[in-house]
Amino acid sequence: MEARLTEEHRSFFSVDKSEVHRAPGRVNLIGEHTDYNDGFVLPTPLDRHVWAAASPREGVRVTVRAPDLGDQMEFRLDVITRSADHPWGNYVMGVAQALQEEGHTLRGAYMTIRGDVPIGAGLSSSAAFLMASLRAFQSMNRISLEPVESAYLAKRAENQFVGVQCGVMDQFVAAMGEHGKALFIDCRTNEHRLVELPRDHKVVIVNTMKSRDLTSSAYNERRGQCLEAVLVIGRHETGVTALRDVTPEMLIKHWGELQPGIQRRARHVVTENQRVLESLELLGGGDVEGFGDLMYDSHESLRHDYEVSCRELDILVDATLEMRGVAGARMTGAGFGGCTVNLVEEGYVDKFTELIKEKYLSSTAKRAEVYLA
Ligand code: GLA
Repeated sequence: MEARLTEEHRSFFSVDKSEVHRAPGRVNLIGEHTDYNDGFVLPTPLDRHVWAAASPREGVRVTVRAPDLGDQMEFRLDVITRSADHPWGNYVMGVAQALQEEGHTLRGAYMTIRGDVPIGAGLSSSAAFLMASLRAFQSMNRISLEPVESAYLAKRAENQFVGVQCGVMDQFVAAMGEHGKALFIDCRTNEHRLVELPRDHKVVIVNTMKSRDLTSSAYNERRGQCLEAVLVIGRHETGVTALRDVTPEMLIKHWGELQPGIQRRARHVVTENQRVLESLELLGGGDVEGFGDLMYDSHESLRHDYEVSCRELDILVDATLEMRGVAGARMTGAGFGGCTVNLVEEGYVDKFTELIKEKYLSSTAKRAEVYLA
């Protein structure tokens, strides 16, 4: 990809120098809808990336091509405004804007962006896009940022410029994940560490091919409901500023004061945070089955309490219950479509792929795609 992109970039823009930067997509193993509640997450980067070829140029114009999307756009660094015609361009402009707000001076640029992270599948093609663009701008303008700083800058670009109120998980793992390992992140303190994955199992992703729309009001609505729970519980308990601070005991104590819908949203986040911490212990002790069970518990909680699953995701997860080579399965990412993540015995991956595709086709008349993480 790097060589092809370089050639394409240089010949289109007639430049003889360029650099290629890339950032990976991700799949979250456990810890869903916890990042914006100051909680814990455990994603792993994919061997699928967004690549940005870039060359600096005189002046304030930035021209960006996205051949995968058959599109191109241009903007000026001194007047950045959101584009309705080229929504993908907002990621590049958002990053440029965030860097300039931090006081960095940017040069004009030519950029060509391609990727193989499926778009709209909940595998964070957007965070990879942001991070690859950020790396390109950093390199062209000799800007060095700490990895945590770059994750938050990309998050800000997405929150403010693209308009999605996401948490920091995706940008964090795109900035500092390592292939073949999970990355535990405490989204309040930014403490993070790499976690070994079971050697004899593979992380397998199944795409429902039902595209979800993150900007859809459901995501921001869930955020609002979490805040409502914090507001109610925080009236009685000191030091509660996020659902991260709510213990199961507190939740039981104040259950009756919460609206029925809010009760279940809060229960998901409180129990999911516990599941992530428990997962670290189980994975550390080599208990794959135990971790797999937590993945199933997480799915049930997302399905019934947080209500972000859908029929297609449930079909895929339920189908694995009958497969002996699968330790655990759950929906991953924001939900409402997208993918499931499965922990599959290495020798069972081919059989799993065959069975899950068959099952999905017969239940939905749709074809699922399967990727290895
Ligand atoms: C999306 C957001 C993340 C996170 C997940 C749900 O991927 O971008 O910040 O909230 O949903 O866990």
